[in-house]
Amino acid sequence: MFRDKYCGEIGEEHIGKTLQLSGWVFRRRDHGGLIFIDLRDRTGIFQVVFSPDISEPTHKLAHNLRSEYVISVKGKVKRRPEGTENPEIPTGNVELWAEELSILSPSKTLPFQIDEAEQIGELLRLKHRYLDLRRPEMQKNFLLRHKVAMSIRKFLDAEGFIEIETPILTKSTPEGARDFLVPSRLNPGTFYALPQSPQLFKQILMISGFDKYFQIVRCFRDEDLRADRQPEFTQVDMEMSFVGIEDIIGVVEKMIHRVFKEVLDMEINTPFKRLSYDEAINKYGTDKPDLRFGLEIKDVSELVKHSQFKVFLDTLQGGGVVKAIAGKSFASMTRGEIDKLTEKAQSFGAKGLAWIRVKEDFESPIVKFFPRELLKEIATAVEAENGDMILFVADTLSVANQVLGRLRLEIADMAKIERKGFSFAWILDFPLFEWDEDEKRFVSMHHPFTSPQEEYLEALLQIEAEAFKNPDSPLKYMKAKAYDIVLNGYEIGGGSIRIHRADIQEQIFRILGLAPQEVQKRFGFFVEALKYGAPPHGGIALGFDRLVMLITGASSLRDVIAFPKTQKAFCPMSEAPSEVDEKQLKELNIKLDI
Ligand code: AMO
Ligand code: AMP
Repeated sequence: MFRDKYCGEIGEEHIGKTLQLSGWVFRRRDHGGLIFIDLRDRTGIFQVVFSPDISEPTHKLAHNLRSEYVISVKGKVKRRPEGTENPEIPTGNVELWAEELSILSPSKTLPFQIDEAEQIGELLRLKHRYLDLRRPEMQKNFLLRHKVAMSIRKFLDAEGFIEIETPILTKSTPEGARDFLVPSRLNPGTFYALPQSPQLFKQILMISGFDKYFQIVRCFRDEDLRADRQPEFTQVDMEMSFVGIEDIIGVVEKMIHRVFKEVLDMEINTPFKRLSYDEAINKYGTDKPDLRFGLEIKDVSELVKHSQFKVFLDTLQGGGVVKAIAGKSFASMTRGEIDKLTEKAQSFGAKGLAWIRVKEDFESPIVKFFPRELLKEIATAVEAENGDMILFVADTLSVANQVLGRLRLEIADMAKIERKGFSFAWILDFPLFEWDEDEKRFVSMHHPFTSPQEEYLEALLQIEAEAFKNPDSPLKYMKAKAYDIVLNGYEIGGGSIRIHRADIQEQIFRILGLAPQEVQKRFGFFVEALKYGAPPHGGIALGFDRLVMLITGASSLRDVIAFPKTQKAFCPMSEAPSEVDEKQLKELNIKLDI
């Protein structure tokens, strides 16, 4: 009734045919006698011509057309006159000469032109998201998102995984962010929590004997938002029984290889690179390094201790380190740019930034404190060649790593280092715990259900209670069977082999300072389940939105989530969150105190 073909499907093979098309008026040009419309649907753009010579009334009606009117037109497909072809679009050699036109739906004057949405403020775009989503670029992103999801589903199905849904109205889960709460009307004074992930349910599904589970699932976390974080986001969540780390890495690599092949026709090399957590932190200053370029961080403490530069010597004396990065790419940096980098370094927490330019006679304000031979040794150690620049940060190990890790990315931007392609890596051997300085206790680096590596088990079970409160206790050195997958500087997934022994799980809770009543209240059902024959199991969750963002080349998650929220977790279109009626609150026994 409305169409014979989609706009983007019409080509020279249709010349001479009469076709009906439907869609939106993208652009309209009135050339005196002739009116040209770019008709748009999901598949593309097609030019329609209205001429009084073909149909007087249709041509007259076409005068009324405005941007984003929904229309249906019928007419004959013709080759465009020579010289008027549009090579920019796939349908650019043909056009439709309209005989009939119906206006199916008019449009108000637009708050912004669809093809100018890129230049306007995001808030307005999100308010009229239905218009924003009409943009061909956005349509492309969501088509791709769909394809990735389909490809993943097909793959996991073929690998024997079954998709099982888990509750949205549930109990607090342990991913470490703040929960979104939902009051229960039927149980006054109690709340559900929206799941931060299906973690406990997927483990219980393993205890239930499902063996291989997956779910493309929404997760909810009340955190401060950034470009790569949304309060609700989607995970490709997986769990497998009777497996070790290699099994999980194997499935994920195979899946990613398949997705890139199917969706982008791109061959991703497997196996992916692997780095230990320590290696990642020491070389790149982060556990999610962008490995598309070098600029590795090097420790030069052993060398610079032979200098007379007081800043370095004092830092080393105090138990700190001096670390450096060097490279050609920022060799041409001006003094002004160095000052800018120094300010950046300070804003990242460094006390200063020292630099040396490698030349015949080295150039730097601090060169006088270094014997020439030493400068040469330093240059060799950091692989700096003639003309290169070396930047130094002297501080505690963690500050030096962190600052240089962030500077590394700043420099890559500043020096316009090419960052193309997809560079995947696994980060392995994570610490089991990290010390929380505010709470003066250990917290899980991943989550409390993560298994320690075998060699630490004995010690972990035997460790005395006073060690729980000592930041330098052996707990600090214990490693977990946890892994993250990173892509181009983003953490796109994380998982672990889980604890399947109730005694180990209980010991972990003790170390984390959770009183037995607290454990009972929060995870009692889970600890109980572990006692009825739990298979060894493990899994991973991939951040689906982040993966799609990187595949599409979008710069924000908001470009790959149909109805995203702003930094303030607000939806400008629906205006959620919003106030509710007094009556609703009353039913829930809630009194506001604001
Ligand atoms: P984790 O907390 O590491 O692990 O989450 C898995 C992946 O989800 C993505 N992600 C997010 N994406 C967008 N917005 C957010 N706010 C957000 N938070 C996380 C990241 C991250 O790597 N249950 C465990 C997994 C497991 O152990 O199997 C979990 O949720 O890409
Ligand atoms: P100062 O002696 O404080 O004038 O510092 C001399 C140079 O060393 C300046 O370029 C500072 O930016 C730099 N500098 C100071 N503190 C540090 C530090 N902790 N690490 C690296 N460079 C530093």
